[in-house]
Amino acid sequence: MNVLIIGGGGREATFCWKLSQSPLVNHLFIAPGNGGTSLYAKTLDVDVKDFEKVGTLCRQLRISYIIVGPEAPLVDGIYDFFISHQEYSEIHVIGPSQEGAQLEGSKAYAKKFMADYNIPTAAYLEITSDNLQSGLDHIENNEGPYVLKADGLAAGKGVLIIQEREEAKQELKSMLDGKFGTASSKVVIEAFLDGIEFSVFVLTDGQEYVILPEAKDYKRIGEGDTGLNTGGMGAVSPVPFYDDTLKEKVENQIIIPTIKGIKDRGIDYKGFIFLGLIRVGQDPYVIEYNCRMGDPETEAVLPRLNDDLMELCVEVAESKLQPRNLSFKNAYATTVMLVSGGYPGSYEKGKEMSIPKSQGESILFHAGTTIKDDQVVTNGGRVIAITSFGQSIESAVNKSKDLAEQIQFEGKYYRRDIGYDLIS
Ligand code: AMP
Ligand code: GLY
Repeated sequence: MNVLIIGGGGREATFCWKLSQSPLVNHLFIAPGNGGTSLYAKTLDVDVKDFEKVGTLCRQLRISYIIVGPEAPLVDGIYDFFISHQEYSEIHVIGPSQEGAQLEGSKAYAKKFMADYNIPTAAYLEITSDNLQSGLDHIENNEGPYVLKADGLAAGKGVLIIQEREEAKQELKSMLDGKFGTASSKVVIEAFLDGIEFSVFVLTDGQEYVILPEAKDYKRIGEGDTGLNTGGMGAVSPVPFYDDTLKEKVENQIIIPTIKGIKDRGIDYKGFIFLGLIRVGQDPYVIEYNCRMGDPETEAVLPRLNDDLMELCVEVAESKLQPRNLSFKNAYATTVMLVSGGYPGSYEKGKEMSIPKSQGESILFHAGTTIKDDQVVTNGGRVIAITSFGQSIESAVNKSKDLAEQIQFEGKYYRRDIGYDLIS
């Protein structure tokens, strides 16, 4: 079968790499892709927001599967578009319906869903300009840190964690006044949870589910988890503290009730669920749901998966997912992300890159790169992800760092401490 991957980051490059290994896949396509994906997939020049054009191209190229990387097309209803048009009945979208994508697209929707199904998460209040005073009273009567979240999608920037009471009140007002546009016309105020974060990934057909390898990502730009938040500077899988007891709690208290909620509500959900979790004491809580895979977690998770991802996607699309334990490589995978100088602030693009021909046992996943005059150049903040395996986190990350040293471009930066907090 022919498959189209939507997206152009390291996550989608990893989908390309993994799907290219499947005997079920004939031709791989990607839109918009990046400077490295052409090794695996043909790039389609189409505006992925224009579902009609995407559909027409899919019919021309006999593409029967669309695998969606980022959240935006899902929140915009790409699944619903294809399911509701008779002429596209041969095309399956891997990703939830618009309603299912609300688990990521609306924090208030996700919190209500978790409350309805008794899924452990931080206590919360939903505030709009109509009940601003109850939000201000809540801040007045409680100690910080205060967690304020824009309800809608805000490019990963919509969560503020504030120590000071007066600052929190001011920020609440400015969020409701449009600090994040319409995304913050509703704000969720949450109790602060103090613990260690990790992520678990599930693939579901809306009835049954399988669990992919877990991962921990590194969001801050600076070593020792300091500085500004980024899209993600690296990832490690497996997570050493994710032991059998915690695993069981996550499955019983979070995954099973989440799938039950999806079923009960009749939500059409044929895709990935990314559980952003935090361990507080010995117990897991949901920080957030995402309706897609994580980036750069995918770059560490999929290389550990032995099962055929396409086979799983076909089962999902046909609502025949067989619940089973997936098979994972028994090694650590560590991903180190090379970024442009200045990221996550402003940075320059178009820097020529030099990449060694041989990458040893490591795998390179291009992210913000493109090809200009036959030369790979930088084209984004997160430029390239390097994944390596090892029997210890240390040995794996050392391989990634060795290769990171050999790749050259002006302004290159990466964190040298990915996974260090997990090494005992
Ligand atoms: P979110 O977009 O909901 O994942 O939030 C972004 C980041 O803010 C998370 O990865 C956490 O580091 C932090 N965060 C969100 N909610 C809470 C909370 N209730 N308590 C502590 N930290 C939080
Ligand atoms: N790495 C976090 C995310 O994909 O949202």
